[in-house]
Amino acid sequence: MRLRRFDRADPSKTQRKNFVCGEATLDRWLASQARQSMESRDAVSYLLLDEDALLEDGRPRIAGYFCLSSGEVKIEETPEAMAKRPPPEAIPAVRMGRFAIDERYQGAGWGPELLSEALRSAVAAGDLIGARVMLVDAISEKAFAFYERFGFTPSPIHPMQLLYDLRVVAASVRIDP
Ligand SMILES: CC(C)(COP(=O)(O)OP(=O)(O)OC[C@H]1O[C@@H](n2cnc3c(N)ncnc32)[C@H](O)[C@@H]1OP(=O)(O)O)[C@@H](O)C(=O)NCCC(=O)NCCS
Repeated sequence: MRLRRFDRADPSKTQRKNFVCGEATLDRWLASQARQSMESRDAVSYLLLDEDALLEDGRPRIAGYFCLSSGEVKIEETPEAMAKRPPPEAIPAVRMGRFAIDERYQGAGWGPELLSEALRSAVAAGDLIGARVMLVDAISEKAFAFYERFGFTPSPIHPMQLLYDLRVVAASVRIDP
């Protein structure tokens, strides 16, 4: 498996259309919007590529993906432990807008693996511009439970939103449930 930035991987239509994760909106976004959001610099997508599984056009199958963009959280929207000594306006964040593993690869531990990579990328982004938390909106109760299991804290205000303290990731690279 190999993780590559969307623009560097330049995935074909066949690669993008073959991705099926069980949440149609996430499949559609990868197929039709990821490239545009990358070109407009609204979000950066990363692809997990299975280089041992080649599609009919000879390109590797996309096993998973996530996308990141910049964001912020109001102090009252942040769990108390992450809101200590906040900057005056809002807490700088990296938003993980989408995160998915293809059905063929689910149940094999790729989710936690890719989540670790996403958190590491968020820490790297925070090293450049400053970001205290990662922010995610869970698409379903199942996704919510997944994030909570891997250390995300539910938002005190928004029912499906969770946050992760990037200072913790920066201090210990390995993410254990
Ligand atoms: C949610 C998702 C990312 C999980 O990835 P995955 O690779 O299938 O994860 P796995 O099933 O291999 O799980 C790995 C570990 O996470 C745990 N886990 C998986 N789903 C879980 C859930 N809903 N709640 C709690 N734990 C969960 C597993 O029990 C396993 O732990 P173990 O190793 O101790 O047994 C994947 O199912 C997916 O992409 N679903 C559809 C899209 C989606 O919902 N994305 C989230 C968008 S917000």
